Amino acid sequence: MDDLPCSEASERNKRPILQVLAGLLHEGPVYAFEIGSGTGQHATFFAAAHPQWRWQPTELPENLGILEQRCERSGLENILPPMGFEVGESDVPDSLQNGCDLVFTANTLHIMLSERLPFFFHSAGRLLKPQGLLVCYGPFMENAEHNSASNHEFDVALRAQGCGGIPDIRQLELLADANDLRFQEQIHLPANNRVLVFQKLATFD
Ligand SMILES: C[S@@+](CC[C@H](N)C(=O)[O-])C[C@H]1O[C@@H](n2cnc3c(N)ncnc32)[C@H](O)[C@@H]1O
Repeated sequence: MDDLPCSEASERNKRPILQVLAGLLHEGPVYAFEIGSGTGQHATFFAAAHPQWRWQPTELPENLGILEQRCERSGLENILPPMGFEVGESDVPDSLQNGCDLVFTANTLHIMLSERLPFFFHSAGRLLKPQGLLVCYGPFMENAEHNSASNHEFDVALRAQGCGGIPDIRQLELLADANDLRFQEQIHLPANNRVLVFQKLATFD
């Protein structure tokens, strides 16, 4: 552990998420683009565990400082320099279009404004290679129901703070469909969180 700001939630969830990712991804080289990397705890933990993964962390331009410091201090050669990327504002760089095996995000979809969610799926669709995976970790509703009382309370608090709030899996599925991304499965993780897996359609689909 270093002296940089640390998210306790990320410390708790990084191992179960890594286990899921390792099970989903093939053994060969993987180019991953992470949206909303926060403190960089996931990026550095995942990249250290899998040297064959090349990990591109990103954050809002104004929040890049801690992420840059943690990635630099990690000394990991398979972490690329963090990039400013804001869903709803930033374009996918031309050099990365159809270039990623994985787009990953953790605990961002309930933070960003709901009107940004279509842009999130649009970006993921442009970033991924055919058959690439979009993997989203966090709390989700399903068929307009919360999966726990604590998530319901969390949702009320988020919306009161001006965040978009906990999104519904069925709504995300529709946004994904519109961008050639097919919902594949949800995996239950501790603390009523889920991993949602979407796959970019192969060009012949
Ligand atoms: C709760 S934090 C999660 C950070 C990290 N992924 C984690 O799991 O610890 C939410 C993150 O989403 C980022 N974020 C909010 N709106 C965003 C947007 N429109 N585009 C990209 N990132 C955004 C914030 O800067 C913040 O780092």
